[in-house]
Amino acid sequence: MSFQNKIAWITGASSGIGEALAYELSNQGAKLILSSRRKEALTEVKNNCKNPSDAHIITLDLSKTDQLETKAKEAINIFGHIDYLFNNGGISQRSEAIDTKLEVIRRVMEINFFGSVALTKAVLPSMIERQSGHIVVTSSVMGKFGTRLRSSYAASKHALHGYFDSLRQEVYEDNIKISLVCPGFVKTDVTKNALEGDGSKHNKMGRGQKNGIPAEEFAEKLIPKILKEKEEIYIGGKEIWGVYLKRFFPRLLNKMLRNAEVT
Ligand SMILES: NC(=O)c1ccc[n+]([C@@H]2O[C@H](COP(=O)([O-])OP(=O)(O)OC[C@H]3O[C@@H](n4cnc5c(N)ncnc54)[C@H](OP(=O)(O)O)[C@@H]3O)[C@@H](O)[C@H]2O)c1
Repeated sequence: MSFQNKIAWITGASSGIGEALAYELSNQGAKLILSSRRKEALTEVKNNCKNPSDAHIITLDLSKTDQLETKAKEAINIFGHIDYLFNNGGISQRSEAIDTKLEVIRRVMEINFFGSVALTKAVLPSMIERQSGHIVVTSSVMGKFGTRLRSSYAASKHALHGYFDSLRQEVYEDNIKISLVCPGFVKTDVTKNALEGDGSKHNKMGRGQKNGIPAEEFAEKLIPKILKEKEEIYIGGKEIWGVYLKRFFPRLLNKMLRNAEVT
């Protein structure tokens, strides 16, 4: 199994994990469709790919779910089909639940959950028709447990697990694979881009992010696991242990996290 000549559509491709994935997949011979809101940033990523002529750009806003079916048609028309849909675009949150406006919670859900679901629903019929396809969803360790300041973010990522675990069973007979990817801390601008309770940009680099693994290392580790069709993938530092503590010693994890620095 390899990515040679495979067609991969990546959302959130303008920075961080999505950008690193674009380079890694391009190095491995994949043909790419790069998506996010910012055209100039996507153009820079395209030009930095190994084969820029094999990388196409479709700008989209994941919160505008009514536009995503048209975007999916556009994406499918570029190469005739999609082999891999990387639902990676997303936004984080840094605010206590009590201070977080309902509209901010909805925005996080809209981008992280409904955006990925809408795009998946738009691509799925063509994958079913071809009896082939792989949907990769960037969740988080926050999709497996929650911490302070991330109630909406953790909720949006937990929701992805419920949806895509169910979908995996429904499309098994159609030969469609689903991988839920749970990064720990990866050194990107995700915390800077996170929303505060009133919807403003957090604009600070979290300590966890600063000490996180580089996005390039993350992408390098992820690709072989995708090729192995792993259903759930954890990549990061010691924070990954939280997933296992939650499974086997949930009260202990809760106690540890109450006292942990979570910026
Ligand atoms: N870094 C970590 O430690 C970490 C840990 C766990 C999970 N994750 C997840 O990894 C994914 C990528 O994040 P990252 O760390 O690479 O952060 P990032 O550098 O902030 O990248 C976020 C990406 O999402 C796109 N995006 C944000 N809002 C969007 C919208 N409304 N419509 C379309 N695209 C939108 C951004 O592009 P535009 O601004 O151009 O739209 C950008 O390309 C996210 O789902 C995040 O939750 C990250």
